[in-house]
Amino acid sequence: LVAGVDSSTQSCKVLIVDAATGRVVREGRASHPNGSEVDPERWWEALQEAIAAAGGLDDVEAWAIGGQQHGMVALDATGEVVRPALLWNDTRSAGAARDLIAEFGADDLAQRSGVVPVASFTITKLRWLRDHEPEAAARVAAVALPHDWLTWRLRGFGPVAGAEPRFDELVTDRSDASGTGYWNPATGDYDRDLLVAALGHDARLPRVLAHDEQVTDAAGRRVGAGAGDNAGAALGVGAVPGDVIVSIGTSGTVFGVSAERTIDPTGTVAGFAAADGNFLPIVVTLNAARVLDAIARLLGVDLDELSRLALAAPAGAAGLRLIPYFEGERTPNLPDATASLEGMTLASTTRENLARAAVEGMLSGLGAGIDALRGLGVPVNRVLLIGGAARSAAVQQIAPLVFGVPVEVPEPGEYVALGAARQVS
Ligand code: XUL
Repeated sequence: LVAGVDSSTQSCKVLIVDAATGRVVREGRASHPNGSEVDPERWWEALQEAIAAAGGLDDVEAWAIGGQQHGMVALDATGEVVRPALLWNDTRSAGAARDLIAEFGADDLAQRSGVVPVASFTITKLRWLRDHEPEAAARVAAVALPHDWLTWRLRGFGPVAGAEPRFDELVTDRSDASGTGYWNPATGDYDRDLLVAALGHDARLPRVLAHDEQVTDAAGRRVGAGAGDNAGAALGVGAVPGDVIVSIGTSGTVFGVSAERTIDPTGTVAGFAAADGNFLPIVVTLNAARVLDAIARLLGVDLDELSRLALAAPAGAAGLRLIPYFEGERTPNLPDATASLEGMTLASTTRENLARAAVEGMLSGLGAGIDALRGLGVPVNRVLLIGGAARSAAVQQIAPLVFGVPVEVPEPGEYVALGAARQVS
């Protein structure tokens, strides 16, 4: 048996999997606070609770953790966090992103780190810390990501009163390292100059394990490098080069598995690494499942009825268009944008057309992501649709029309945790 973990923004899920068959034999989950600023101890508590709910790890021979990307877990010289973690969805560091781009130029940053910083990425959070909480920044001795820090804790490491803890045992994987903004996917090395430019001084960073490299825990179990959640989902769903995954949850992510590294100085496509040694060019939108929630609420219907209404309307919703930037947008980078409805005529303004415009508007944002991947030469043979909103019949039927490629909808599953389990199977 092996265990795969998904420590997501909302909760922690643990799957105990039969490594030979891939069958899930036990599972456990626990919620932790979500939001955009969280004390990592809450994730650690939820992980232990979820492991207990899954019947423990005694009969497990190996485990790996996947998790939300980018969160800044900044540790002091004794291994305690200097402040609660700032998460991927915290936008206070948007100004820091602009400053770093002004200092280095988008081209240079894209070449050196694979990404042009936006507020989500760790590098901008470190610069924000230095600018706004300089005493805390000065105390930072090591910087980890959520999945690295949990792996360290579960292997039996952690803070040591009055002494330096085993920072040399902090490990991460290529996919999560590539979301920091200070790791170079081309060389596999950290860019210390970028780290220093952000934080103000050098710090210990997790060792980046190769995709097939493993360590052990205190009980001698094998431990995988783990993965950022998107890369973990790619492993879990079994994606191969040519597949593009569109995940429609709180955020919308569009990512392809590519043998070639991508560089996009416009910042639309982040040049992440995949957990399996490939690359994972990705586009992230902020307006995804909640676009459907908002319009369903407005129409006073549930999501099933929204789907039925949308499928009763003609393609194109008789010219009614929903521009879905309810929460600003990350790609395109329009943090202050709002949503709007266009093309309202007496004929087009029906409940059916509005429902259809919501589905088409949300999918168009994701479809632009697919086009951006294609524009960088990423092969797009088929789309795999996952995430909560992928269960909507209207989303399933309208997606191939909007994306212009065959769309498959795998069985609903905990793909991040399954991917982590597969890594050590
Ligand atoms: C990826 C991103 C999100 C988080 C969600 O860049 O910000 O998909 O990984 O956990």
